[in-house]
Amino acid sequence: MKKSLFCLFGIFFLFFHFSYSWSDELILVGDCRQASGNENHVLAEKIINDAIQYVQDNSQPPSELQGIILTGDYVSRGKDPAGWESFRSAYSAAFEYPLYPCLGNHDTEVFDLAYKRWNYYETFQKPRWYSVDIGNVHLISLDSDLSWNPLSPELLLEIMQYHWFKKDLRRNAGKFNIVIWHEPAYSSHPAESKGHGSNLFMRHRYVPVCEAFGVDLVLCGHNHWYERTLPIKNGIVSDEGITYITAGGGGANLYPAAVEQQDKLKDKDGNILSAANASAYHFCVLSVSDNTITIKAVQYQTHEILDSFEVQKN
Ligand SMILES: [Fe+2]
Ligand SMILES: [Fe+2]
Repeated sequence: MKKSLFCLFGIFFLFFHFSYSWSDELILVGDCRQASGNENHVLAEKIINDAIQYVQDNSQPPSELQGIILTGDYVSRGKDPAGWESFRSAYSAAFEYPLYPCLGNHDTEVFDLAYKRWNYYETFQKPRWYSVDIGNVHLISLDSDLSWNPLSPELLLEIMQYHWFKKDLRRNAGKFNIVIWHEPAYSSHPAESKGHGSNLFMRHRYVPVCEAFGVDLVLCGHNHWYERTLPIKNGIVSDEGITYITAGGGGANLYPAAVEQQDKLKDKDGNILSAANASAYHFCVLSVSDNTITIKAVQYQTHEILDSFEVQKN
């Protein structure tokens, strides 16, 4: 009797194991602000709702949407409460899920250590840097606008963030480590375009920490397009490197993609580091299972797959 019960249990286990592959689904969207005169989020609302519907339509139980990662620039002027009201209203369906934001350059206000008064804080109830566990993922959010400048009144905050970041990564080895910040450390966008090339401060100060502590993915916004790099370590392509994604297609005016070879991101020897780049409104879907994250960049409305790749953890 006992034996046949074990057999039955084994058959059920195998059936469910091979019939259902579970994953935690996360949406990634960036740069939903839309400023032409007065702030509005008409397109942003359509894109985020399309993303939520897409995940609901394309994932079978027990996979389900665990939250939405937002890579900054929710409004055009951080100090303007009306812009935030517009954002919250447009994202009302998104607020039904846990939101994991980072602070964009448009979301900041004048220097204010008491960030709890900020519209950003009131909207998300999240500080300038934080970490959170979402199933197999340890997600860390940083503020890329805190620069190490001896003349900056925010210097102390930057030092605090930097040391907290190292400590947090040291404590959380083992899971997938995903780090989000707003301004990409690796971007094909031209450096001369006023703060929209690669953010070299983040590259030189935070990327080495990411590399030392086994970060798997860095997700950014700021440049209004989609871009993915090849895995990079020490500035060159490496199997042990980190993949950097820019997902800035959440509603703000798009940038033209870097079509010509000479315009693409390169390493110091001239080898191309950019693996995919598209000028399109889009969202990304991250499907996280035991030891794999599958990332798809999906074009808004057409649902064309702009890019798809996997990150493995042994
Ligand atoms: Fe930005
Ligand atoms: Fe932006």
